[in-house]
Amino acid sequence: MQVHHYDVVIVGAGGAGMRAALESGDRARTAVLTKLYPTRSHTGAAQGGMCAALANVEEDNWEWHTFDTVKGGDYVVDQDAAEIMAKEAIDAVLDLEKMGLPFNRTPEGKIDQRRFGGHTRDHGKSAVRRSCYAADRTGHMILQTLYQQCVKREVEFYNEFYVLDLIMTEVDGHKRPAGVVAYELATGELHTFQAKSVIFATGGAGKVFKTTSNAHTLTGDGMGVVFRHGIPLEDMEFVQFHPTGLAGLGILLSEAARGEGGILRNSEGERFMERYAPTIKDLAPRDIVARSMANEVREGRGCGPNKDYVLLDLTHLEPAHIDAKLPDITEFARTYLGVEPYTEPVPVFPTCHYVMGGVPTNISAEVLADNDHKVPGLYAAGEVACVSVHGANRLGTNSLLDINVFGKRAGIAAAEYANSVDFVELPESPETFTSELLEGLLSGQGTERVAAIRKDLQETMDTNMQVFRTKESMQRALDDIEALRERYKNIVVQDKGKRFNLDLLEAVELNFLLQIAEVMTAGAMHRKESRGGHFREDFEKRDDENYMHHTMAYRDPDATSEGIPGIRLETKPVVVTRYQPMERKY
Ligand code: FUM
Repeated sequence: MQVHHYDVVIVGAGGAGMRAALESGDRARTAVLTKLYPTRSHTGAAQGGMCAALANVEEDNWEWHTFDTVKGGDYVVDQDAAEIMAKEAIDAVLDLEKMGLPFNRTPEGKIDQRRFGGHTRDHGKSAVRRSCYAADRTGHMILQTLYQQCVKREVEFYNEFYVLDLIMTEVDGHKRPAGVVAYELATGELHTFQAKSVIFATGGAGKVFKTTSNAHTLTGDGMGVVFRHGIPLEDMEFVQFHPTGLAGLGILLSEAARGEGGILRNSEGERFMERYAPTIKDLAPRDIVARSMANEVREGRGCGPNKDYVLLDLTHLEPAHIDAKLPDITEFARTYLGVEPYTEPVPVFPTCHYVMGGVPTNISAEVLADNDHKVPGLYAAGEVACVSVHGANRLGTNSLLDINVFGKRAGIAAAEYANSVDFVELPESPETFTSELLEGLLSGQGTERVAAIRKDLQETMDTNMQVFRTKESMQRALDDIEALRERYKNIVVQDKGKRFNLDLLEAVELNFLLQIAEVMTAGAMHRKESRGGHFREDFEKRDDENYMHHTMAYRDPDATSEGIPGIRLETKPVVVTRYQPMERKY
């Protein structure tokens, strides 16, 4: 086994990881470890934009942006973090512009901006143009730009190194990371990376669901690794369903389509969002639009032979406008559904898009061990983290912003910390846990196939934990997850080889998925109210008296919460600075 030594190790090379690397790499010896080649990271799939109150095309300011973020998140946003994000958004966009990102431009040559759901002027009066964009390839452009900068600055990448464990040691009564253990996909070898600081930037866990816009690799690995070490996961019940997935496929069709004037219609041709959000209609936040769409279908106004989707109508837009602003997604509609968006409305239905919860951090991206203590030297940024700027429902374009603002903060903080401490000694044989895990999987003589268990997990989560939830549906999900965990003990990994053993990789990922699905469902059981992306038909109202808090799920073998052994649920207060909770109307 090889041992490497770095001041800072960053796990993940999407937007948050590479933005962190640019800062950390200038200040300390830094390595980036990534399961994928960096430019294949899921940031590249983000389409519609990155918001900042630049006020390039109409009046705007960071305070309106903060308010929209807090209200959009149904008031369980930590408002200190949201203020920072909205303020730093402006420099975050300008930083990318200076790095060479090819934003769309106004006729005067400024960065152009367009409308997106839940972003408003003057606290909700009308939709505002706040999203900076590069056609419908904004994430792709961010990823390429950051990667070019990393190459220019000679950041060291370990590509296709899958981090499977965090090495934690105790120093002066505090737990501190000493490094990570990674599995090299090309060789099947384990590597230990000793580090003073570790940043997790491993993305989300959307593959828990069957219908998702997420890439196959979004399996909650980083969340699973830290959770195993007793670090909590925050607000995991809040999962975002993006309204416009291509029907039956879940492939993302950017909200930018509605920002550019697209309209959702039911089988009667009605612009139904006028009933649900009379002021900003199709540009209401995603939780409201997704629920409204699902409701139209449930009430029999769905389209198609099975009446199971609604339509996104772009036919009133000029083809030249569509080509200039939405080239990729309209091509997706042609390729995957055979629909011509110039002349035909596109079938759409909500798709799992984003996990608002994650590894709890403070505003410097330092990971929290509990409500009162941080884990010195451990950081998280991007979708894996919960800072919490998205609360119960993230606004579109706040994700590309989050990765840039908090990725940068994580990189600076991790490097500064590394420069202030010595290495902690590695424990003897730090790879033992990981090698036993992999050997156990490779030597298993079971009969269960990984793909079959994963499919059953995704199906129960789609059926029971999607846009509408009840105690009974969630209990069914939990019962299924428990049965699947039993089946997991009997899996077989057929490929016994060392080189690019994706069969083994998928077996490891499945364990993370099962764990994350259980934590999501536990949090959802606990929260007996409806808020943001978490809508319970048995508790349809928001209940600020009892649930204006974050949920913190801990792995605890001695505990049982919501009937689930091994999980302890606690709460954490929400940081409120200037916006008291109000009724959420659009
Ligand atoms: O619809 C979109 O383009 C997605 C953007 C986001 O999730 O922020």
